Amino acid sequence: MRNLFVTGGAGFIGSAFIRLALEEFSDCRIVNFDALTYAGNLDNLSGIDESRHRFWRGDITDPDAVLAALEAETDAIINFAAESHVDRSIASAHEFLRTNVLGTQVLLDAARERGVHRFVHISTDEVTGSLPEDEEAFFDESSPFAPNSPYAASKAAAEHLVRAAHHTFGLNTVITRCGNNYGPRQFPEKFLPLMLANAMRDEAIPVYGDGRNVRDWIYVDDHCRAILQVMERGRTGETYNIGARNERRNIDVAQSVLKILGKPPSLIKFVKDRLGHDRRYAIDPTKIETELGWRPRETWESGIEKTIRWYAENAEWVESARSGAYREYYARQYGTI
Ligand SMILES: NC(=O)c1ccc[n+]([C@@H]2O[C@H](COP(=O)([O-])OP(=O)(O)OC[C@H]3O[C@@H](n4cnc5c(N)ncnc54)[C@H](O)[C@@H]3O)[C@@H](O)[C@H]2O)c1
Repeated sequence: MRNLFVTGGAGFIGSAFIRLALEEFSDCRIVNFDALTYAGNLDNLSGIDESRHRFWRGDITDPDAVLAALEAETDAIINFAAESHVDRSIASAHEFLRTNVLGTQVLLDAARERGVHRFVHISTDEVTGSLPEDEEAFFDESSPFAPNSPYAASKAAAEHLVRAAHHTFGLNTVITRCGNNYGPRQFPEKFLPLMLANAMRDEAIPVYGDGRNVRDWIYVDDHCRAILQVMERGRTGETYNIGARNERRNIDVAQSVLKILGKPPSLIKFVKDRLGHDRRYAIDPTKIETELGWRPRETWESGIEKTIRWYAENAEWVESARSGAYREYYARQYGTI
């Protein structure tokens, strides 16, 4: 049996992971523990096999709530729960430290207390900072930590705690680090869904600075398939970079999306750059490719086509996420959030 305890499973990547895990493993049962912040949306889970999925609203910083939901026979905790938007961390870092750092420690303690077999921690390439432009430099798993935003610093701190739990207590941990995910159900404050939603309504697309910042893009299901493989076969105490060898400048992403949508490049509006904006991220995924045989299934062309089709066919989801309408339902259902 695969009894999984997924945190942040109502968010973008966590919900994609739950869909995939239920599809791939018929013996998989999932407790989805999520606080339903502004980024958590239960609509992201519509259509899944509810008989094998149990939603539990709770905050990972609350040890009693975590222990109440975490069953002793849990095979793995997969920790997606986080404050994930860099711009918000620049405005205020408090929630990032609370959830990303303290929350991770609460989960590590609970994993030990319940004897959970494996702890899978979802991290980011941003913990290793920015790479030079135009150089053949990549992040690998031994690249030094150099977080540049409060978000990245909080994710780096969380990784240190996971490492310490493994080293000190022998907890069976694995860490994954990934770059920019794209795909269905991403909250429309992030670059790609914001761009799609605006372009579809003929509204301006904001691009930071000169638009030459480079990100390494991966289709969300490819990321989730890699996490499943690390969960199943990754070596304990190890970190695995996950990347699709798909570096793109923000301006090129914007232009190619406008082209596919048949919209004019004049919709692009350069705006004041993000403070401390990292120039380039690029991931070397050799370790996961050679050790676990993982490869992405989507090309950028096939992934972006699927993504655009999903947003075009799910205008209601986008509208509800943009307007916050889905949160009114929670407020009625669960009280104030
Ligand atoms: N989106 C990306 O491109 C990307 C890239 C690399 C790594 N990551 C990491 O992947 C993970 C998931 O990212 P995402 O884009 O799906 O994020 P998201 O913001 O879409 O979802 C986060 C989820 O966590 C929940 N959550 C937040 N605080 C919580 C708390 N205190 N207790 C319980 N639940 C809480 C939210 O309700 C939401 O459902 C994060 O850890 C993020 O750092 C994301």
